Amino acid sequence: MTTNTAIDVALGDRAYTIHIGEGLLEERELLSEHVRSEKAFVISNATVADLYLDRMRSALGNVKVDHCLIGDGEEHKNLDTLGEVVGSLLEQGHTRNTTIIALGGGVVGDTAGFAAASYQRGVDFIQVPTTLLSQVDSSVGGKTAVNHPLGKNMIGAFYQPKAVYIDTATLRTLPDREVSAGLAEIIKHGMLADANYLAEVEADIERLVALEPEAMINAIRGSCAIKAAVVAEDEKESGKRALLNLGHTFGHAIETAMGYGQWLHGEAVGAGLVMATDLSVRLGRCSADEALRIKNLVAKAGLPVAPPADISTETFLSLMAKDKKAIDAGMRFVLLAGGPGEAELVEDVPASVLSETLRAGESLCEFG
Ligand code: NAD
Ligand code: GLY
Repeated sequence: MTTNTAIDVALGDRAYTIHIGEGLLEERELLSEHVRSEKAFVISNATVADLYLDRMRSALGNVKVDHCLIGDGEEHKNLDTLGEVVGSLLEQGHTRNTTIIALGGGVVGDTAGFAAASYQRGVDFIQVPTTLLSQVDSSVGGKTAVNHPLGKNMIGAFYQPKAVYIDTATLRTLPDREVSAGLAEIIKHGMLADANYLAEVEADIERLVALEPEAMINAIRGSCAIKAAVVAEDEKESGKRALLNLGHTFGHAIETAMGYGQWLHGEAVGAGLVMATDLSVRLGRCSADEALRIKNLVAKAGLPVAPPADISTETFLSLMAKDKKAIDAGMRFVLLAGGPGEAELVEDVPASVLSETLRAGESLCEFG
């Protein structure tokens, strides 16, 4: 096993630790200290459970483990699934003392988190994220939700876990596209908060794509530290937490235009980061050289560096205007503040400049 490491999320009486290590789930009794009752309840899906449920049982030592499998895919992150989870908890006699453990990617984590927030008015919750995206983003910070037919993540709660356990060995079974999708959020964290971290990610990008454990643990630790600091400062997104949406206003428009499931969220964010950087250059907030650096990094992570050519400027504008996070403050964007490593919310972006970015296509960030 490579060295384990930990990050604290400083949230007062809701503080918790993110444990990171290669092979962490091999540690017997790893999770037992967080389980107050004689049994725990694992929520997963068939794909992940086939691979890791036995390891989870062993990591829980003598704790009795019940489990419930939900459908695999975003379309299962809904109230019907939540109802099935609650039914299973009740049938198996789980009380307010139980501990719910999410074993899987963001779909499992978001659903299990909302089940934990709402079951008997709240029970203990542990995140064991198994996709790179969930390890660096969705398992940290306490956003839990399920989707409504009229909108994604429309039913949910802020509910912090008691602990997060990240076993980087689980990434070995993850499809390459999902690894790249997680790298998009890692690059995003560096771009919005820490130029030194971004430079490390850039230097290690080939090792990260190859899932080299030491590089991966460093990158996950850095990303979790950035997200933990943002969440500690603004848990409920009244200000700074909105910076985590860098690249997402463009990305959400791409996901919606393509139809959910065509591009992974992280792939749309990859192109969105290049678009946000391009717009930052046009507004004098980033140099052309730095912008090209970002574009090259996104490409090396195996991500698209431009939106699909068939999304028109008009479609983009109308989809971005519908994006709840963009429209709340009248089409606002998270843009770089002088270059990669710092970001800020910007309102009143001139439509003519925005259109230039939307029309740039493959030549985004190429100003030479
Ligand atoms: P996902 O949960 O759908 O997982 C992607 C795929 O990988 C699934 O098919 C899953 O079964 C499979 N998988 C998971 N772990 C695996 C492993 N170790 N080996 C092999 N296959 C594995 O997708 P995701 O990208 O992890 O999460 C996306 C969800 O996260 C979305 O619903 C999004 O809204 C949510 N999200 C939430 C937050 C938050 O702050 N709560 C932040 C970002 C995203
Ligand atoms: N993924 C954005 C947030 O957690 O706030």
